[in-house]
Amino acid sequence: MKEVKVGQARIVFIKGDITKQTTDAIVNAANSSLMGGGGVDGAIHRAGGPQILSECKEIVRKQGRLPTGQAVITSGGKLPAKFVIHTVGPIYGKNADCRKLSVELRSCYIESLRLAAERKVTSISFPSISTGAYRYPLIAAAAIAVAAVKDFLQGESSIKEVYFVLFNDQTYNSYVNAA
Ligand code: APR
Repeated sequence: MKEVKVGQARIVFIKGDITKQTTDAIVNAANSSLMGGGGVDGAIHRAGGPQILSECKEIVRKQGRLPTGQAVITSGGKLPAKFVIHTVGPIYGKNADCRKLSVELRSCYIESLRLAAERKVTSISFPSISTGAYRYPLIAAAAIAVAAVKDFLQGESSIKEVYFVLFNDQTYNSYVNAA
């Protein structure tokens, strides 16, 4: 575990499973369909039960597919967290427009934090968005993620603790180095 202070808040880096976190909210690295998938998305829906998917379906019925870089909120179902914030990271590809993808990835963090603050959340956990199935290069993604959270925490909000819950050593080390 490693932590850094930013103003009145702190960012904590841990290795672990985000579905077990007891922060007010956890963030899901979803896809635009919001219908679940593999990786952390699959783990959250499995652990949280059908309530989360049913709320996701209702959101898509009302507003359509979720664009990259945006976020929506549901309850946590059976999870310890009260809320799940679903965001869609950019998909990294061969001829990627790196600038555009980095703006979208930053937006995932900022929009998730903004939604959480709207609900007066004080603690929130993030996974490493886009660095699994979506193949965003880890070191670049970690730098964007940490910078986005630090920038957000410089402003006034209800959020006092931001956890990065990282699934393996390589991911954990990349985020700690970025901080
Ligand atoms: N807790 C924390 N981190 C996890 C967990 C977990 N339970 N399970 C996986 N991870 C990690 C992965 O090791 C990776 O570091 O989450 C990070 C993000 O990987 P993905 O889950 O593959 O997310 P992403 O790259 O954003 O791809 C999104 O994957 O399954 C889908 O529906 C999802 O289509 C979407 C795509």
